[in-house]
Amino acid sequence: MTLEDKIGQLVMLVMVRPEFASGSQSVIADSQREAIRTGKIGSMLDIWGADVTRDAQGVAVKESRLGIPLLFAHDVLHGYETIFPTPLGEAAAFSPELWEKTARAAAWEMTAGGVALTFAPMLDAARDPRWGRMVESFGEDPWLGGRFAEAKVRGFQGGGQGAAQAGADLSAADAAAATAKHLGAYGAVTAGREYAAVDISSRSLHEVHLPAFRTAVDAGVAAIMPAFTSLNGEPMTGNANLLQDLVRKRWGFNGVMISDFGAVAELIAHGVAGDLAEAAALALAAGVDIDMASEAYPQALAEALSRGLITEAQIDAAVVRVLMLKVRLGLFDDAFRRGATPITAAQRDAHRQLAREAARASMVLLQDRDGLLPLNANAPRHLAVIGPFADAPSDMLGPWHAEGDEAATVSFLAGLKAALPGWQVSLAKGAGAEAVEPRARNDALDLAEEADITVLCIGEASNMCGEATSRADPGIPHSQRQLAEALISIGKPVIVVLTCGRPLIAPWLFDTAGCVLAAWFPGSEAGNALADILTGAHAPCGKLPISWPASVGQIPITYAERPTGRPANPAEQQTSKYWDAPVLPLFPFGHGLTYTRFAYANLRVSPQTVRAGDTIHAEVEITNEGNVHAEETAFLFVRDTLASTVRPVMELKAMAKIALAPGKTGVARFTLSTDDLAFYDDAGNPRLETGRFKMLVGARADRDALLTADITLQSD
Ligand code: NOJ
Repeated sequence: MTLEDKIGQLVMLVMVRPEFASGSQSVIADSQREAIRTGKIGSMLDIWGADVTRDAQGVAVKESRLGIPLLFAHDVLHGYETIFPTPLGEAAAFSPELWEKTARAAAWEMTAGGVALTFAPMLDAARDPRWGRMVESFGEDPWLGGRFAEAKVRGFQGGGQGAAQAGADLSAADAAAATAKHLGAYGAVTAGREYAAVDISSRSLHEVHLPAFRTAVDAGVAAIMPAFTSLNGEPMTGNANLLQDLVRKRWGFNGVMISDFGAVAELIAHGVAGDLAEAAALALAAGVDIDMASEAYPQALAEALSRGLITEAQIDAAVVRVLMLKVRLGLFDDAFRRGATPITAAQRDAHRQLAREAARASMVLLQDRDGLLPLNANAPRHLAVIGPFADAPSDMLGPWHAEGDEAATVSFLAGLKAALPGWQVSLAKGAGAEAVEPRARNDALDLAEEADITVLCIGEASNMCGEATSRADPGIPHSQRQLAEALISIGKPVIVVLTCGRPLIAPWLFDTAGCVLAAWFPGSEAGNALADILTGAHAPCGKLPISWPASVGQIPITYAERPTGRPANPAEQQTSKYWDAPVLPLFPFGHGLTYTRFAYANLRVSPQTVRAGDTIHAEVEITNEGNVHAEETAFLFVRDTLASTVRPVMELKAMAKIALAPGKTGVARFTLSTDDLAFYDDAGNPRLETGRFKMLVGARADRDALLTADITLQSD
């Protein structure tokens, strides 16, 4: 390969969409065709559709001098054509099995569309709802992030349980390379402001932000994308300490590192590179193999070499990694394998069913003070479905919905109508997502007066979440608040359904509305899933994967904070609290109601004395005290009560699900290893200290409501 050929393999070009020939396929511009033919690019993003990918691949394989196949990449985060709930919503299902299944279905569909690599899963722990990308994350908890990471990597890359170890077979036609993004600590941007610098301690980096990435590497993830942001003064795109020394050398990652969009050239704006050649050299030396859509590698890598900023051996190493990924994906055996077989109607139906299951498992019943739910479908009444998201299919899909089609999406209104035959179901928009519409508001209020019950669909529009959607005040926009306040003050029953990609900080809503359900962005089957929940066909089982703040001033917020020498005490001024807001969130991590009550009793942990390497078992009895069949997720947290450093007040280490018929008692079981008792030191090495540990078990991260038991770790 010539130097030019090699550099070509390190360049990822973005598809320009000059026009939409059919809406379901991207289009290749002539200039791109020429770039492929002359070997100037090795991969493309934002390209999809069997015909287009086959066309582009044909140019690469048959018309370019070396015939090296292209790698096609796309952001497939929560579905390709069938859209599942956005990740934060899916996280609320607390179900690794479900997370894996939806990723598998997405991989099937995207590979049928010719795409071989997805920029997912996003593994940035998120504790600041101002940051719009919280919607793409698994929430605040690093242990949960690890479970999410392994399930998603397995799901996308295929092969089932245990098969996605490093070196696993990625060559199947339905296997997609996954990308763990965005390393690291992107979720901790200053003040929640998108792309802003990150300044955090090494301890929280290793404890909170890196574990999910480490798990993804252990699960054999094919690619990693460094974040746009700088971390403690070093832009991640040029951060050799983390990318090379930690991730490649210590963790043993041997896959491909792909920059974020334009991030290599942005090293200039960060102020660490004087020109494109320096930017290219910094990124390459840090281990970034592919330059996504910046001019740095294509225009300046050769110059960086001639100026002695990098060596050809460094370029070769990156090229080998890129070619190895193409080999692993089977592209050299058959570059047209993906995109050859469309998914069948039966598969598509199964994916729709899965989307409905995932959407209802993700919905979290935050409060139901007056017991409005479930609705009795057999006693027809007049239902008003009101709000900007009442009949808004495109807003059901959420950000990064790949090829999700709003025409194939079931709106809340459509789902409720289908599930409530015999009911009168009427629609009024009432307000725009952000626009006050007085006439629409009046119509909506008239309708609410007439109807027996209102489902009020408010929250965030799809485009208010995702990349570049930081909100200084992440509440309910003014137009919708006006509508909601007027409607609730009528005094008739109102069920509020929140479309959102983060906890919405709106204490007024929770004070005035008795019943609130977080539906997130539920995806293609939104309306059917909502109807399943509201009618009681399925009792809600989602729980919050993030703390829901009571006030913006509490942000960033997590249940896993470190203790203080002066814990909050309402009776004492000089304790850790606010003058004007509570200390605790409105709803803690793990909160989620259902149509029954679960009681926890008899926590047993064995053995009570352990040594490094032992397995710890815990079990707790859970009783369904109501009269509805429902599923409960139980959590086990650990507190290291005395250590050489300040340990969080509690940390999630295990979870267990149990489905119980009314009146029944079952046993939820948890298994831990002594590794779960360790913590990371400043250099990221695990450290296990002997002594007493508290196990706290219960329904949510509410310290006062958990059962506890102690174990002791002894030295050998
Ligand atoms: C920028 C985003 O940060 C990243 O998550 C995404 O994968 C790329 N753009 C490609 O669309």
